[in-house]
Amino acid sequence: MELTNRHILLGVTGGVAAYKVAQYARELQRRGATVQVAMTEAATRFVGPVTFQALTGRQVYTDQWDSSVPNNMAHIELSRQADAIVIAPATADFLAKLANGLADDLLSTLCIARNCPLLVAPAMNREMWANPATQRNVARLIEDGIVMLGPDEGDQACGETGVGRMLEPEDLVEDTIAFFAPKALAGKQVLITAGPTFEPIDPVRGITNLSSGKMGFAIARACRQAGAQVSLIAGPTALPTPRAVRRIDVTTARQMFDAVQAALAAPVRTDIFIAVAAVADWRVANASDSKLKKTAGGQPPALQFAENPDILASVAARADAPYCVGFAAESEDLERNGQDKRRRKAVPLLVANIGHATFGRDDNELLLIDEDGSTKLSRDRKDALAARLAQEIARRLPPSD
Ligand code: CTP
Repeated sequence: MELTNRHILLGVTGGVAAYKVAQYARELQRRGATVQVAMTEAATRFVGPVTFQALTGRQVYTDQWDSSVPNNMAHIELSRQADAIVIAPATADFLAKLANGLADDLLSTLCIARNCPLLVAPAMNREMWANPATQRNVARLIEDGIVMLGPDEGDQACGETGVGRMLEPEDLVEDTIAFFAPKALAGKQVLITAGPTFEPIDPVRGITNLSSGKMGFAIARACRQAGAQVSLIAGPTALPTPRAVRRIDVTTARQMFDAVQAALAAPVRTDIFIAVAAVADWRVANASDSKLKKTAGGQPPALQFAENPDILASVAARADAPYCVGFAAESEDLERNGQDKRRRKAVPLLVANIGHATFGRDDNELLLIDEDGSTKLSRDRKDALAARLAQEIARRLPPSD
């Protein structure tokens, strides 16, 4: 998992967004991290320490003078065991303390005594965020190498709207994973297709497939976490856009083809193209502009099909082709059929889904096929597999890329 063997010291300060941090703590653990919580006294007024204790299975520290800690040195002990400290939510007051090196309670002492990175997720009213004192403190924190997670813009607990709200727990998780991810794709431009396509029969009907888009979206997220700039061309799916990924929604295979060509024509060169979409091989050639009507005793409509362009093959055939990665759903003789398909599409890397029932599931198993043979990525969550795939792609990039 993405956060296996990571020890995170989670510092909770006194803001209403503290209630969302319980979810964040849980998600961190689900990705393999161990989470140790320390709270300020004010934070305990918003969420009880028992909540975090129950979620993490560890004692929650709130007191600088806790006599149960050896030598009474809680601040040193706790921060020495951590790979990172994350403060969420971080109040304006706590940012001010950090910026000025104050250490008048357990959490601020832990922060100043740390020998690991510090990440902070500010959460406050928009006026407090915009206040010159806060902005001065934030600039100082950035200068000191402290990583800012957010804040976000939107509705605030006080009823106002603006910049200052804490990132949602799932975005905090993404940014935390991104912080730890090896930056194997730093500076690379990655273009990804994902999801199904939908080929209309008439204005209300069409032909599609069972692709959920989960694998393609997970790969987009993983590439961005590995340091790439990512554009994601998505067929119809309700999945949320991964953080900091540029998304273009399309419906049909031809729209997907056009969007890919347009992205490749952009002034910034695409380094890597990953075709994860389940593109319809055919479209309905005689689609109707008006809804097809059923007439009593009449004949059912006769659909005619025309072949869609092969997006992956067309990209791979370009003189300025990026490094191309194809996907395949083979039902038998995975390796031989995969190797044939890889050569037919003229791509350096083909990723085969092992087994059929991968559509819509959260886990998967992959076989990577390149000119040297095959490598298996054993069953895992799609997010974790995507992170491994991003590293595998980075390893295979030609040196000039
Ligand atoms: N692909 C594409 N454009 C198409 C069809 C497929 O870009 N019009 C890409 C897919 O995104 C995927 C790979 O090509 O990366 C899959 O190739 P395809 O030949 O469609 O293989 P399968 O779906 O595995 O099935 P089949 O062998 O039955 O064609």
